[in-house]
Amino acid sequence: MRFYIETYGCQMNQYDSRVVSSLLEREGWEKVDEWKEADFILVNTCAVRQHAEDRVFSRLGIWGKYKREKKPSLKIGILGCISQKEGENLIHRFPYLDLVAGTFVIPKISQLVKEALEHRVVALEEELLEIPPPEIEEDAVTTFISVMRGCNNFCSYCIVPYVRGRERSRSPESVIEEVKKAVSKGVKEVVLLGQNVNSYRGFSVRDGRCVDFPELLKLVNKVEGLYRIRFATSHPKDLSDELIKAVKELDKVCEHIHLPIQSGSNRILQLMNRKYTREDYLRLVEKIRKEIPEVSITTDIIVGFPGEGEKEFMETVSLVKEVEFDAAYIFKYSPRPFTSAYSLKDDVSKEEKERRLNYLLQLQKSISKKKNDIYVGKEVEVLVEKREREGWFGRTRNHKSVIISSSLPLLGKLVKVRIVRNRKGILEGYFR
Ligand code: SAH
Ligand code: SF4
Ligand code: F3S
Repeated sequence: MRFYIETYGCQMNQYDSRVVSSLLEREGWEKVDEWKEADFILVNTCAVRQHAEDRVFSRLGIWGKYKREKKPSLKIGILGCISQKEGENLIHRFPYLDLVAGTFVIPKISQLVKEALEHRVVALEEELLEIPPPEIEEDAVTTFISVMRGCNNFCSYCIVPYVRGRERSRSPESVIEEVKKAVSKGVKEVVLLGQNVNSYRGFSVRDGRCVDFPELLKLVNKVEGLYRIRFATSHPKDLSDELIKAVKELDKVCEHIHLPIQSGSNRILQLMNRKYTREDYLRLVEKIRKEIPEVSITTDIIVGFPGEGEKEFMETVSLVKEVEFDAAYIFKYSPRPFTSAYSLKDDVSKEEKERRLNYLLQLQKSISKKKNDIYVGKEVEVLVEKREREGWFGRTRNHKSVIISSSLPLLGKLVKVRIVRNRKGILEGYFR
C-alpha cells in the first residue's frame, strides 16, 4: 500500500509529518511523491490563519473529485490543527474523507490508518502520548527536533494553544538520544523546536530534576560530530540572560534568534496579551546585540489587529526601522475561533491590511538588503545543506542563505566562502 503526505503550517508540523511517515513505513507502507500514485492521501494541516485553512480545503476538493470520478478506492485523511479545531464537522462537510485525526493521536497513526481502510474514523482524544522520534531523511544535513509541544501563552489572536494543548516538554535524555541518532545518520545541524522554547522544562529521567532550555543547549552542545544547533521560537517575555549566555558561549549554538514582536504599539501589544512592551523589546534587542554582536534577529509581525489605526501601525513601522531586523515574516490578522480576540470587531478592512502588509514588506526588503550587503567581499562559514540548480545551498551561522558555485562534493561540509554578490536576499560566493 502506498501513501502520500502533504504538510502545511509550521516546522513542528513538518516534524510531525516525518513521525507519521516513519510510523507508516515501519508498518510496510510505501511513501510516494505523487498523490495520484497513492492509495491513501494524508494532509497535515494548519489553522493559524484562514488562508492556511483555505489552501487545505481547495486541495481536499481536488482529491475528493478524483476519488469520486476516477478512483473510488482512494482513501483520504486529514491530520493536524484543522482536524483538532473542526473535529466531527469535517466528516459531515467532506463526505469523501475517511480519516480525521487530531494533533494528539499522531503516535497511533498506523492503527488509525488501518481502521480507516475499513470504515470512517474520527480520532480527537487529547491523550498525552509519547511521540516516537522519526527516521532521519536521506542525505539530511539539518533536521528539526521538537523538544516540546503545546503552548500556555494564549496570545489573544492565536489558536495554537487550543489545537495543540498545554505545554509539555520531552525529557532531555530523549532529546539527546534523538540528536545522537541524527548525527550517526550524517546530520550536522539540529533545529530544536517549540512554540516557546524559553519555557522548556524537561524532567530528567536520569537524575530526577528539571532541565531548562539553556541547560538543554549545553547538553546538546556536547554531542560529538554535531556542528551546529539552532532553535525556535523565543517569546520575548521570557528570553533569559542564561539563554543569551548560552548562545554567546556554546560553540555549536548559532547566532540567530527568532524573536516575534507582533506589533510596535503598546496598546496593541496589550490587546494581544503579549506581556511585554515596545520598550522591553527594544531593551532586550539591545542587550542581545551587545552580548552577541554578530547575532541576527528575525521576527513575526501581524498587521491589522482589531483597533490598529494608522497611529499604531506607524509605531510598528518605526520599530521595524529602529531594530533593523535581518528578516521579518509579516501576516494579515485573521480572526480565529476560540481565541479571545475573536470577540473583537475585525475592523481593519482587507484593503487596508493589504496596504500595511505591502508597506512593511517593502521596508523590510530594503533593510534586509542593507544587512546582507555588509557580507559582500567578506569570507563566511557556511554549512552546505543541499544541491540546487545554481549551486550548493547553505547558511551562515547567523542564518543567511548562501549559494556557492563549486563542482566539488560539498554536501554536509563546513566551508569558508568568499561572498561576491547579494542577489535578492541570497548571498552568492565561491569556495576555494
Ligand atoms: N509560537 C510562535 C509562533 C506561532 S504562529 C510565537 O509565539 O511567535 C506563527 C506566527 O503566526 C505568529 O508569530 C504570528 O505572527 C502569526 N499569527 C498567529 N495567529 C495569527 C492570526 N490569528 N492572524 C495572523 N497572524 C497570526
Ligand atoms: Fe500562539 Fe502566542 Fe503561543 Fe506563539 S506564544 S503559539 S503566538 S499563543
Ligand atoms: Fe499552524 Fe498548528 Fe503550527 S496551527 S502554525 S501547524 S501548531
